[in-house]
This record gives sequence, structure tokens and C-alpha cells, in this order.
Amino acid sequence: ALASSAALAHRPAGTGGLLRSAVPLPPAFRVPLPRPRVLAPVSTAGGVDRYEITQRETVGEILPGVRTPLWTYGGSFPGPTVEARRGRPTVVTHRNELPVPTVVHLHGGRTPAESDGYPTDLVLPGSWSEHRHGGGMPGMPGMADPRAVQSRVVREYTFPNEQRATMLWYHDHRMDYTAPAIWRGLAGLHLVRDDSERALELPDGEREVPLVITDRAFAADGSLAYPSLDPALRDRPGVQEPYAAGVLGDVILVNGAPWPVHEVAAVRHRLRLLNASNARHYEIEAVDQDGRTLDLVQIGADQGLLAAPVTHRRLPLAPAERYDLLVDFGAVKTGGTVRLLNRLGSGRTREVMAFRVVRQERDDSRVPAVLSTDLPQWRREEAVRVREFAFRAGRMGEGHGWLIGGRPFDPAREDVSVRLGDLEVWRLIADVHHPVHLHLVGFRILSRGGRAPLPHDAGLKDTVSLRPGEAAEIITRFDGYRGRYLFHCHNAEHEDMGMMANLEVR
Ligand code: C2O
Ligand code: CU
Repeated sequence: ALASSAALAHRPAGTGGLLRSAVPLPPAFRVPLPRPRVLAPVSTAGGVDRYEITQRETVGEILPGVRTPLWTYGGSFPGPTVEARRGRPTVVTHRNELPVPTVVHLHGGRTPAESDGYPTDLVLPGSWSEHRHGGGMPGMPGMADPRAVQSRVVREYTFPNEQRATMLWYHDHRMDYTAPAIWRGLAGLHLVRDDSERALELPDGEREVPLVITDRAFAADGSLAYPSLDPALRDRPGVQEPYAAGVLGDVILVNGAPWPVHEVAAVRHRLRLLNASNARHYEIEAVDQDGRTLDLVQIGADQGLLAAPVTHRRLPLAPAERYDLLVDFGAVKTGGTVRLLNRLGSGRTREVMAFRVVRQERDDSRVPAVLSTDLPQWRREEAVRVREFAFRAGRMGEGHGWLIGGRPFDPAREDVSVRLGDLEVWRLIADVHHPVHLHLVGFRILSRGGRAPLPHDAGLKDTVSLRPGEAAEIITRFDGYRGRYLFHCHNAEHEDMGMMANLEVR
């Protein structure tokens, strides 16, 4: 999955690397918005919710009338939603029936290291079980040392859910192959609920809508197009370059449906956005049929509720970021339409989805003035250390890669060692757009470009979107668990091309 010697274009992801679909695309706002199904536990005994997920291939119908092979969690894309209560552990047993090894990571989870999905901590496919105790990993570069690899065919992941209520997501994290695995469908939601969130009486049930936004492109045979998946394309000039910048599709999917439409009552809704795209950045805006912009009232960030609501007209959404929004359709007349638009797109990627207001309903909801009082108030002066990391393009072996501090990812090297409980400031510097994600912890954004953070940087984050040429400072306390974690760029192609580093909590 590594780019070869093609020249690396230093274009920000979001402008280059667009794949074009070779099948006819449906008109916008016809396909109904699916709601990812909520997974039922197989057992709730002993204060633990147990789930089972089989990772398997299936053929789905994403575009009407087009058959698309997918890699799925439990047969659907997105995968099933896990609903958890704060402090009540979730144990998920993953069985791998895919043709390749996989790794499950709960993004944003405060997870013990052994369940965090380290990139060489594999769930082997059944067909690979004979290699379980063997020497070396066939076809897996960088994994020659079997001692570095703990691998199983079935694997139990334990998530304590000891964290603020928020929307997390789980996705594949295998070394060098995360991007194509997510692209083929390995992503799903994991919601953590708690009492303080419930006390706010936010819109729920039908009025709470998760929106998993991704882009994809479709080959002539209906399969998902992806540069490095097609050996026939691999050596053709120009193919690696879009891979290197990050792969963008020309079809926008929400919850796995192309430019869907969702019928709603004319009331306030809670929209829970996740950008699960490999590399595409969005800038979301909600516009009604008369061209009026609706307020996007942000109530939560990656790691849960803000202290107080922040109102946006437009909201940038980088890969892996989540936003918890209240949007009021109360002023829209029956029959009216509100489109979610992407201001960074062009042509059809400018449209995301639509809400059609089909009835009036009573609405007692309100926007609480105070959302939470438990956000950490870390102060720069209290930090015991300041570190700096440059996220930049560079050479990796024979080819081009994406590096942190001049080095590509190496599972055998320790990059950063922090002491459990230490408060640190990290200064992150980017050449092009890099959404930087830390495992284990939530952080607060202290500054951008030497200035105050932006309105959408509020709250507790686990992914910060560094803009081209920008330096940002974040502050966090490394608490929770000891062990080996990661930080990396969440442009999934950049991540696979080396932009990841080890974070050891001691
Ligand atoms: Cu969303 Cu290290 O991942
Ligand atoms: Cu990047």
C-alpha cells in the first residue's frame, strides 16, 4: 500500500486525488437515509454488555441497481452501532471471515492498550490460522518478526466506557492497510451515554440522527474503486499521486447511501456527524429551499458535550472528527427541504444530503444554556513538558511517504514516552492538511497559528485538523492506562504511508 516513486504532489487533501466513478450516479435526495442498526448484546450478565461481530464480505447495493462487494462488520456498511452506558464495560468479540488480517480500534475510546488495536495486533482470517504460530507473516511487509505480532482468529476487545458521553467510532487499523480497509466498509459507531447528558433532555429517538459521512468512487463493475487495490493500475503513471494525497471519491454517502434524503418533522433535531472519509474535508452548511442558512448549534465535540453551545453558519469537518449539533427545522414549512451542503466540494460533491419536512409536530425541546461542567481546565503553565512534532512529506525507503518528525512509522521504535498522569503541551506543525489524532486521551486546543483557537475547536477533542502551513498547540493529561498507544494523521492514506508514531504511556 506504499506509494512508489511517482512525484508527490504537495496539494492539500481535498483538492487532489479525485477518483471518478465509472457507473451512472443516481440523482440527489431520492434514496432514503438509512439508520445504522443498533447491535443487540448477546449477554448483559455481570454488569458487562457482550457483543459479537463477524467481519465478512458481502455484496451490498449502495447505488440503486448496482452490486458492490464490501468488507463489513456484521454484513452492513456502516457497521452496527454499539450503544454503551458510561462505566459499564462493553466486550466485543470479533471474528474475522475476511480474506485479510484486520485490527479493530475504537476511535476516541479510553481503552486499555491490549484492546486498543495496535496496528500489528491482528485478528487473522480463518484461512490464515495455520500461520498463527508460524514464523513470519506472508505478504506483510514490516512484520518479519513474529514475536512482535500477537495474532488471533477470534479476538475479544474490552472497552470500559469510563469516559464522557460521546459518539465514538470503530474502524480497521492494520499497519499499511487501514485506508483500503475503511474504504471497503470497515467502520461503525459506538455511542457512550451518561446521566448528565440524559438530564439535558436533548432530542432523542427519531429526533437524534447519526450521520456517517464518507465519499467513495465506483468502478465499472460496481466495486469500490481504490488505486492500490487494482494491480492493473498500480504501475500506471498518475495513479499513485492521488493515493499519496489521500483518496477522494466523487460520490457522497451518508450512512452508506448516496446523497440521501431524510423525512423529518418541523422540530429541533440532534444531528451527530462523523466524517469517516479517508481524506475528504467538508465544510457543512444547512440551506433551506429559499436559500436561507440554518444555524448549526454545536453542543458537542469529538469527546463529548461542550460547556455551552456554539452557533455556526458553516462547520469544517476533517476526517475522523465528530460534531454533535442541534438543528431546528421549526421554521421550515411542510414540504420544504433543507440541504446539507459541502462548501469545499465542487459539482456533485458540493451536496451531502437533504432533510424533507413532511409534518408539523409539537416541540418542547430547547437549547440548554449550560451543557456540561466537567471539561478539564488545563492551563499551559501547569504542563510539565512541551513537545513539537512536524507532520511533513518526505522520503520513505525507495519512495515518498508522510512523516512525523522526519521518520515514517516503525512498530519497533519508541517515539514518545510520557509518564502516566503528566500534563503536556504538544505543538503540531503541518505542511499540508493533516487531521492529527491521539489515541487514549482527549485534548484541548490551545492555539492555532499563534492565535486563539477557532470557534469549532471548543470542547474536548481527539482529532485536530491542522490546516496547510499551520502550527497548533494542544494540551492533555496522559491518564487512564499505561501501555503502547499511537498518534497519527487521520488522512487514512497518509497514515498508511508512514504518518504515525508510537506513544508509550509509562
Ligand atoms: Cu481513528 Cu488511530 O484512529
Ligand atoms: Cu496527513
